[in-house]
Amino acid sequence: MTTAQSPITGLRYIALAMPNFDESLEFYTTLWGLEQVSAGDGVAYLGSPVDPAQYILRLRKAEAKRLDVVGLAAASRAEVDALGQRLSAAGVRIDRAPADLGTPGGGYGLRFFDCEGRLIEVSADVAPRKISGATQRGVPVNLGHVVFNTLTLEATKSFYETHLGLKLTDWLEDFMCFLRCNGAKHHILAIAKGPHVALNHVAYDMGGIDSQMRATGRLVRAGQKIVWGPGRHGAGDNTFSYFKDPAGNVCEFTAEMEGVDEANWKVRRWETKPEMQDQWGTGGLITDGMIPAQFNTPDTGLWTPAPV
Ligand SMILES: [Fe+2]
Repeated sequence: MTTAQSPITGLRYIALAMPNFDESLEFYTTLWGLEQVSAGDGVAYLGSPVDPAQYILRLRKAEAKRLDVVGLAAASRAEVDALGQRLSAAGVRIDRAPADLGTPGGGYGLRFFDCEGRLIEVSADVAPRKISGATQRGVPVNLGHVVFNTLTLEATKSFYETHLGLKLTDWLEDFMCFLRCNGAKHHILAIAKGPHVALNHVAYDMGGIDSQMRATGRLVRAGQKIVWGPGRHGAGDNTFSYFKDPAGNVCEFTAEMEGVDEANWKVRRWETKPEMQDQWGTGGLITDGMIPAQFNTPDTGLWTPAPV
């Protein structure tokens, strides 16, 4: 059953852990276009240079690569508390009960595991950060969406619909579904069948195609290989350029995702035809690099709390 109103207002941050922390930090700050806003012992918080969201990516040095946390936003502390009560009553495994957060920007949040063991945080009241206000093109403005690989597509989709009120927007054949939160764009989360549970990719909204192409060119000039793109997807109508970070996670520059008319939306089923996956036909073949890259390596962090 899908609840009428989702308590989730958007994606807040993605936290990744990896052995090659320094190399990853260098990649995301010098090439990807994020700026370091706070640092601790082997932990770095990165934000957009042009948007006051406190941070959108966290990197942590660890022996094994893992997805640490997916951070989602709620509108208020009361929503966080109410969600905590509903999750507990439903038997969802809670990692941290609702409490003040000790991370940059503070706020109030809880953590729990989804049905496959990914660690999810939902928070509210995180303070914005001061930015210079200078215009910059070719840098991420915010997170766009995150995609998970799953072994249990129906159950995982159902978890996010039932417990977080996300709504199904579209299908790609029968192996990938796209979910949105309230009044939002086409998707903040997509879930795809994979050979193991893993992070499929993280997409950064560039605010426009010009910025996406400038950023894409910056990486190409630096010798980075485009995994897939640039192109424009069918589902979501968003543009894309996919790369791989030094830890082997796929990351995407994206822009122009379509909006959803909540009152009249009808779920569509897209096919894997090249002209539906890549409307412009400019991105190259998905089979060349994207499919193996997006499978990623099995997530070593399932059902395991993150130390930060
Ligand atoms: Fe994507």
